[in-house]
Amino acid sequence: MPLILGIESTCDETAAAVVADGVSVRSSVIASQIELHARYRGVVPEIASRAHIENILPVLRQAIDNAHVALDNLDAIAVAHRPGLIGSLLIGVTAAKALAWATGKPLIAVDHVHAHMYSVFLAPGPTPPGPGSFPAIGMVCSGGHTALYLLNSLAQIILIGATIDDAVGEAYDKVASILGLGYPGGPIIDRLAAEGSATAIKFPRSMLGRESLDFSFSGLKTAVLYHVRGFQGRQRDPRTLSAQELRDVAASFQAACVDVLVKKLRRAVRATGARSVLVGGGVSANSGLRGALAGFDVPVLFPAAAYCTDNAAMTAGLGDLYFRQGTFSPLDLEAIPHSQFVRAQIQSIL
Ligand code: KG4
Ligand code: ZN
Repeated sequence: MPLILGIESTCDETAAAVVADGVSVRSSVIASQIELHARYRGVVPEIASRAHIENILPVLRQAIDNAHVALDNLDAIAVAHRPGLIGSLLIGVTAAKALAWATGKPLIAVDHVHAHMYSVFLAPGPTPPGPGSFPAIGMVCSGGHTALYLLNSLAQIILIGATIDDAVGEAYDKVASILGLGYPGGPIIDRLAAEGSATAIKFPRSMLGRESLDFSFSGLKTAVLYHVRGFQGRQRDPRTLSAQELRDVAASFQAACVDVLVKKLRRAVRATGARSVLVGGGVSANSGLRGALAGFDVPVLFPAAAYCTDNAAMTAGLGDLYFRQGTFSPLDLEAIPHSQFVRAQIQSIL
């Protein structure tokens, strides 16, 4: 039963976790930086890297203590080394290398976006799909990513669609800022939307052509800005909105986001004949999205609530798969800020 330590520092959460057998989470510690970034209504990279430096050792210690294991009992150290903010990535990658060197345990490099898709397998989540569930479509929707992947297995992942501007979580955060709400905006808008009318305002749904699997959310964000604050966002103070108007904007905005995500997912499933869908990333916590995908054409797996947003349990879990394959990294592993997906036009891979 492999015991893997996972380390995550790609953006604004410093996290460490110990996972047994790829699914059983023995500990999962997350030091959130939300309070530090809230006044800027978004992540400030330099502040994030400094906070990672302060948090990394206490978080690692706590993850090891909570799991009641000794460093010696670990089988490997997995770290998210791409994609993310370079200053943030460097802290986790450096800590992982130092630990691997000091303990003589193997180092395993994990892609953060792959890990979000793996998060659906962490207990207490849904039963992992068997080989009959592949090919699967992975949809990662978070603050930094909105993309669709074709997974022939967990080890063979092809990018088939991505946002051409904002990520959907970023749109939630910006709309929350337009409405004068807090940060991060996703959970706040999700809560307000439950009490508003989804049909009160007809916001645009950008589909980018009949076949496209790409996304665009910046037009929707601007439409909300103009609706709430008037032309060019300068005519009206959002504080003049009534509580019900606020809820209706939230519900109508959420309906537009969910509509687009579900339609693109359906396109991808139909184009590839996928047998299941794995949804990951912060926006996979969204109640509107979960409701809209209940009873979808093929089984849809979501992560347990604790593993939707950034965490290290998903890093350790996917690290377990690489450990079993014997896929290890040298100690000069680099932190890489961008994704390294092979992008394919859907027509060319079918
Ligand atoms: O996966 P994550 O922690 O970080 C990235 O890898 O980007 O996702 C954070 C994003 C934020 O934009 C946040 O507003 C959004 O996920 N989010 C939500 C919800 N919970 C978090 N968006 C919509 N509905 C939610 N319930
Ligand atoms: Zn993430």
